[in-house]
Formats: sequence, structure tokens, C-alpha cells
Amino acid sequence: MAFQRSVVITILIAAAAVTPGNAAINSIISQWLTIAQNTVLTLGFEHQQAARVYGIVASAQYDVILLARVNKAAYIPDEVAAAYASHAALSNLFNWRQNAIYDVALLQNLAQFNVSDSLLPVLQSLAIPAVQKILYDRLRDGSSLFANFKPFSNSSENIGRYQFTPGQTSARYPQVGQARPFFLTSGEVDLLTRPLKHFSLDDPEYARQLKQVYLYGSANSTVRSAYDSDSARFWALGPGTGSVAGIWINISIAAIPSSTPVVHQARFFKILTTSFWDAAVACWRTKYRELFWRPITAIRTFHGIIPADPSWTPLLPTPAHPEYPSGHQCSSGAAVYVLESFLGVSFPFDVASPSTPLLGPRSYPSFRAAGIEVGNSRLYAGVHFNKSNVDGFDLGYRVARYVHLKNFKSATFSSSI
Ligand SMILES: *[C@@H]1O[C@H](CO)[C@@H](O)[C@H](O)[C@H]1NC(C)=O
Ligand SMILES: *[C@@H]1O[C@H](CO)[C@@H](O)[C@H](O)[C@H]1NC(C)=O
Ligand SMILES: *[C@@H]1O[C@H](CO)[C@@H](O)[C@H](O)[C@H]1NC(C)=O
Ligand SMILES: *[C@@H]1O[C@H](CO)[C@@H](O)[C@H](O)[C@H]1NC(C)=O
Ligand SMILES: *[C@@H]1O[C@H](CO)[C@@H](O)[C@H](O)[C@H]1NC(C)=O
Repeated sequence: MAFQRSVVITILIAAAAVTPGNAAINSIISQWLTIAQNTVLTLGFEHQQAARVYGIVASAQYDVILLARVNKAAYIPDEVAAAYASHAALSNLFNWRQNAIYDVALLQNLAQFNVSDSLLPVLQSLAIPAVQKILYDRLRDGSSLFANFKPFSNSSENIGRYQFTPGQTSARYPQVGQARPFFLTSGEVDLLTRPLKHFSLDDPEYARQLKQVYLYGSANSTVRSAYDSDSARFWALGPGTGSVAGIWINISIAAIPSSTPVVHQARFFKILTTSFWDAAVACWRTKYRELFWRPITAIRTFHGIIPADPSWTPLLPTPAHPEYPSGHQCSSGAAVYVLESFLGVSFPFDVASPSTPLLGPRSYPSFRAAGIEVGNSRLYAGVHFNKSNVDGFDLGYRVARYVHLKNFKSATFSSSI
């Protein structure tokens, strides 16, 4: 707990030190996203499920603010609408945490905004049906159906195909590829993922990238720099951290100007977090369509390019899903698109990572520079070929741009609500 707090303080102070103007919000919107993230990290969620939870909470915030604004029966501040909606969504999803955590936070918010008890029935009748609709759509999104996935056996007939890596006994999220996004239709997912194609094994660029990950991604690499080894760990953001989506939410909280009206903050985070989930669906659709093998399998299996090295071990453990494209980068591409659209292509900021508390914050000149480093970090971790990082970023970027254009008319902080 103490360590989690120190991380946020680092982010806020660092951002205030280097970003122009009065950056960093501390609002009902960011507070409840942080409460959601605390649940995600306490329960050890992985990235895809985390993205779905963030999308649900941020959608509840924005949708209920809009409803409260047209409600004639009583004046409801945006903050109060967002707090009530966040509480309703999280209490439904994680009801064993309600009384001790979500109720306490909501009570504080109601006191802070002097909400009288007589307003509560109004809030309930306004917010609950809207939140239930969001939850009902997610209940039916297919993201937890049994997929009956069977991997290829790890034999030489399956050169190039995804095989379980040493110690792996199940594959993660084959169902997510067929799950319903927040905004994209299934046909749109097909359309957006169509350009992605895994390496052909006779492509000279494949041979180059195989050697690259062999040398730079090995646990005992002699060519990877200390900075790049640290990058692999900095951006790993596995269970217990809040995930890759979580760090981009934190970066956003530290970068958004404090003067940004709450309703604009809410729209921003709805676009950002729903894009994470929609990009995850597109990413997983591609992973389980392409079924490309991981570096560890390729390096340990002779297939005519480099000698097999049966003891080669990546710097970090290989995630239990197909290699192409990178899940980290589908999210980072989406985040970079949304942040660039709202805050510009040049935006210096600092951020610390809960994966590496001892490293402290790192500085970046732009969101894209950080996003590219996330991609390279997966190569240095020894779990991805560079092509997966580049194509994953591009897919996430295009998904977020599509959602932003089609569902939000490319709105930014200066567009009306
Ligand atoms: C709530 O009431 C207190 C005391 O009357 C006042 O100081 C404060 O500004 C009010 N807060 C809001 C958000 O209206
Ligand atoms: C083959 O797959 C099994 C799991 O099904 C795994 O335990 C084993 O280590 C794999 N072998 C190689 C060389 O990857
Ligand atoms: C985001 O910030 C919260 C604290 O506000 C922290 O607990 C969490 O670990 C951070 N998440 C990431 C992924 O950086
Ligand atoms: C360490 O490096 C050597 C080559 O120098 C390689 O053969 C071996 O597989 C590597 N070991 C691990 C654990 O990566
Ligand atoms: C990955 O590929 C991109 C595009 O070709 C390139 O700009 C980048 O430098 C590569 N990254 C690494 C670490 O080789």
C-alpha cells in the first residue's frame, strides 16, 4: 500500500515538474479509475481483463454524467454522477469489496459535494439502469466462453506454428478474439486485422529478426544494454501492477491539464479505455488466427537459419499466448493514438513503473517515444520478434482512431460535449 502511494506521488510530482502548464488531474474521475486499478492490481488481473474493467467503469462515468445533465428533476453535479456510477459498476463486479472500499469512497464524495439523502433515490433511478445496461452488454460479450483451444504439438511438423512453451499447460484468452468489443462490430475487427500477416519463414527479414531476438532477448545476452534490460522489466507490468492499460491511464492522469472540465475528462477516459478492450479483441483475433510461434520455440527448434540452442532462455518468462502481434503494443498503440489526439505529438513527461520501484521515473519527449520503447522492451525481454511489436502498435493505433472517428466524431478537449 505504502509503495503504491509512493508510485502515484512520483508520477504527479514528476509530471508537474516537466509538463507545460498545470498538468495532472485529481478529480472524481481519476480517483475512481485509481480505485478500479487498485482492485485490478489487488486481484492480480492480467491486462485484457483489466482493460475490460477500466472500459466498464469509464463508460459508466461518462454515460451517467450525460444522463444527469439532461435530468430535470434535480441538479446533479457531474462529479456526483460519476462517483455514483463508478460505485455502482465496481460494486456489481466485485461485491465482496463493496462495503469496505467502494461504499467508503462514495460516502466521502457525497459529503464533499454536500449531497443530501433526498437526492439518493434520484441518483439511483438515473444511474442504475444505465450502469446495468453497460454490465448486461458485457455479460453477453462472450469474453468468458469456453473456447476448447488445442495447441499444435511441439514436433518438427509444426515449424513456425504456435506451440506450448516449456512449462505451459494452458493458453490465455483464446475466447477474447471472438468477444464483443465495446464499439467495433465483428466485421470491423476483421477489416482492421486483415493487413496483419505473420512472417513467412523464408523471409530474410524473419532470419534477421530471429538472430536479433536470439542475441538481444537472451537471459544472458552480452549485447543488450543495461538500460534495455531495465526496459524489459519496467514495462513488463504483469499481474499485481494494474497492467499496461493501467500505466497508460496513470500517464494520462498526470498529463491532462488540471483545468480540464470533469465531463471532458470522462469522455477522454471512455475513449481511451474502451479502445484498450476493442484493441485487445482485435489483437487476440489476430493472435489466434495467425498462431505464430514464440522466439523460445523457434530458437530451440532447428529450422535451417541458426543452430538450435536448446538451452536458450528469454530474459522474462514467455506469456502463454501466440506470438503475433504483441498484446502490450496493441494497447500502447491505442494509448498513443488517443493521447496524441488530445494532447499533441510532442509532450514531455516522466513516469515510474510499479514493476521496477527501485528504478524510479523515466523521462520521455513524447507519448510515441514511450510507446516505441514499450515495444522494444518486449524484444529485449525475449518474448517477441520486432515485427510483432511494430504491427501490434499499428493495429492498436488504428483501432483507437476508428473508434474515435466513428463513435466520438474525433472529439478532443476543445470539442463541445
Ligand atoms: C459544502 O458545504 C460546505 C459548508 O457549507 C461548503 O463550504 C462547501 O463549499 C460545499 N461544497 C460544495 C462542493 O458545494
Ligand atoms: C512441449 O510442450 C510441453 C507442454 O505441452 C512442454 O512442457 C515442453 O517443454 C515443450 N517442449 C519444448 C521443447 O518446448
Ligand atoms: C498507477 O497508479 C497507482 C497509484 O495511483 C498505482 O497503484 C499503480 O500501480 C499504477 N499502475 C501502473 C500500471 O503504473
Ligand atoms: C547463455 O549463452 C550461451 C551462449 O553464450 C548459450 O548457449 C546459452 O544457451 C545461454 N544460456 C541461457 C540460459 O540463455
Ligand atoms: C523495429 O522495427 C522498426 C520498423 O522497422 C524499427 O524502426 C525499429 O528500430 C526496430 N526496433 C528494433 C529494436 O530493432
